[in-house]
Amino acid sequence: MRPLIAGNWKMNGLTPQLAEIEAIATCVAETPPFADILICPPSTLITRAVQVAAGRIAIGGQDCRKEIAGAFTGGISAEMLRDAGASTVIVGHSECRQHYGETNALVAAKAKAAMRAGILAIICIGETKSQRQEGKALSACGDQISGSVPEGITSSANAIGYEPLWAIGTGESATHEEIAEVHAHIRQCLVARFGAEGKKVRILYGGSVDPINAREILALPEVGGVLVGGESLKTADFEAIIKAVSAKA
Ligand code: 13P
Repeated sequence: MRPLIAGNWKMNGLTPQLAEIEAIATCVAETPPFADILICPPSTLITRAVQVAAGRIAIGGQDCRKEIAGAFTGGISAEMLRDAGASTVIVGHSECRQHYGETNALVAAKAKAAMRAGILAIICIGETKSQRQEGKALSACGDQISGSVPEGITSSANAIGYEPLWAIGTGESATHEEIAEVHAHIRQCLVARFGAEGKKVRILYGGSVDPINAREILALPEVGGVLVGGESLKTADFEAIIKAVSAKA
């Protein structure tokens, strides 16, 4: 399975940062990695990011509404993201679940909207610190898979992002054992529900991925890529993470 290295810029990025996308696209063109590369900048930059990326890396959105269009001030539909040139949208990121009260059902509807629009959805799940401490990490993730992953999944339309909340932006990545255990569980849940198609869906790990830990994380079983926050804002570090995928080749 070809891994996916995705950068989530969150609410960061103005016009000057387009140069970073261009630099990464150039690096990818010069030394093609054994991976698909995606950057999800804020939606204000998507169209221009697509232009500077020039097909060398993919550009995605960070969220969408479930509706196609309508009276939803400030809302962006999956169709609008696609129209802007996005190939992908992140849905159900823990920051959206936390700050905007998103439920599993809403996340599933957003993932369905992405499938309707013909773009890939990266459906994010992950346990809290207290769920992990109480030994409930696997059941919490299993529940989120059941509730947030819509019917009709296909590997070309969906990926899962496993991002333990306590590992996001903390510098404390999950251990290899924790990542391998949860990824195996996610795979089991996907296969139980979707059969052969569930075997092909990429499962990304996210949470304090950096140039030092990326290579080993990417080499773990059932890790189909990484979802990178903070380090994707630093061009040299993101390039180093991209180069780490040679471990998978
Ligand atoms: P960090 O890489 O900053 O921990 O963020 C991970 C994340 O939330 C990516 O979606």
